[in-house]
Amino acid sequence: MMFPFHYCTPTNIIFGKETESHAGALLKRTGCKKVLIHYGGGSVLRSGLLARIQASLDEQKISYVTLGGVVPNPRLSLVYEGIRLCEQEQVDFILAVGGGSVIDSAKAIGYGITNEGDVWDFYEHTRQAVACLPVGVVLTISASGSEMSNSSVITKDEGMVKRGYNNDLCRPVFAILNPELTMTLPPYQTACGCTDILMHTMERYFTNGGNMELTDAIAEGLMRTVMKNARILLDDPSNYEARAEIMWAGSLSHNGLTGCGNDGGDFASHGLEHELGGMFDVAHGAGLAAVWGSWARYVYKDCLHRFSRFAVQVMGIAAQQSEEETALKGIEAMEAFYRSIQMPVNLDELGIHPTDEQLKTMAHMCSVAAGGSKGSAKKLLEEDMLHIYRMAAGTE
Ligand code: NZQ
Ligand code: ZN
Repeated sequence: MMFPFHYCTPTNIIFGKETESHAGALLKRTGCKKVLIHYGGGSVLRSGLLARIQASLDEQKISYVTLGGVVPNPRLSLVYEGIRLCEQEQVDFILAVGGGSVIDSAKAIGYGITNEGDVWDFYEHTRQAVACLPVGVVLTISASGSEMSNSSVITKDEGMVKRGYNNDLCRPVFAILNPELTMTLPPYQTACGCTDILMHTMERYFTNGGNMELTDAIAEGLMRTVMKNARILLDDPSNYEARAEIMWAGSLSHNGLTGCGNDGGDFASHGLEHELGGMFDVAHGAGLAAVWGSWARYVYKDCLHRFSRFAVQVMGIAAQQSEEETALKGIEAMEAFYRSIQMPVNLDELGIHPTDEQLKTMAHMCSVAAGGSKGSAKKLLEEDMLHIYRMAAGTE
């Protein structure tokens, strides 16, 4: 059965080689007066990208201020600093030059400057934003899909609490996607990105809600394409075609397209990862790979048809005697894929060894963040989340 849906994709996409040179002209068209160029820990300085962006703005006589220093699992403290800077400088447009962390930080600053009160309230879901400053993107890593998504994920420094807030107001006005810019990524970050891209579609695919034939075909094609090209990049990281396929998949995987007609998706693996990211500051994609197999084994019987379809259509497994066997072979094949791109499939391989108390804390925080329960393949309560964390930790 197909569910009714709302599909919102206002982002203007400029895709291809050297497209970052259009940044100034694109900003000019928005009529903005002053731009904040927001960036991360230094890759854009080393690659010369920031200088090229600045030259493009100078050419169009657009004034700007810069704020770097965004770290993976972007921090609320820098968001506050950005809000203060934007107020002082009367910034009316934010250009994020980087990956999901930079884009999410830009979105949070955009909320903070256009709404009264503490921006963290939105991430705690105690009230809704009524506006967001326009955000543009020059993407340097294919992963989060934040360049087209309605989502922003921020970590509060105090207690390292990682929380997401979804609102269409923050969808970027434009996104410049030049696959060449991702060629300077370390292989680990490329693999984390591919994992996150896959997971954004898998979260929407493993559901007990509605499904559309067309959405399934797009989702399955996207997942096969990402896996095929991720393997190519292992040996040939400068392969433009493979970088391009993955970059476009990253944007489509989290802009809502692969969930049209379903019930909103599962997103339990994301919820479980956000606690790992908060408590242990792990890379998002690696954290997802480390919990996915345990999640899948815990829930597959409640969503058997989707797991067996995934095995056949995405992982290329021949149908076995029972649907259950087919489903399990699909889960094994997915874990083998993660391993093949050097992604962890448990917490030990992720490099963390939480105590049982820490697992309990994460399960509790995860259920609180989700409002008590999360998931569609199987509705998970706090005790289910703890089982999955223990399975991933190898203690159950
Ligand atoms: O900070 P720099 O020096 O730029 O280094 C970054 C960072 O260390 C590096 N990097 C990025 N582009 C590079 C590069 N290094 C060399 N060459 C390049 N071209 O890569 C590292 C990771 O960057 P980050 O922005 O953190 O990666 P990603 O795009 O995976 O973003 C992760 C964040 O996004 C959130 C995650 O939870 C995490 O906080 N997510 C955001 C979503 C959204 N807004 O829609 C959805 C996702 O599910 C996710 O939760
Ligand atoms: Zn993600």
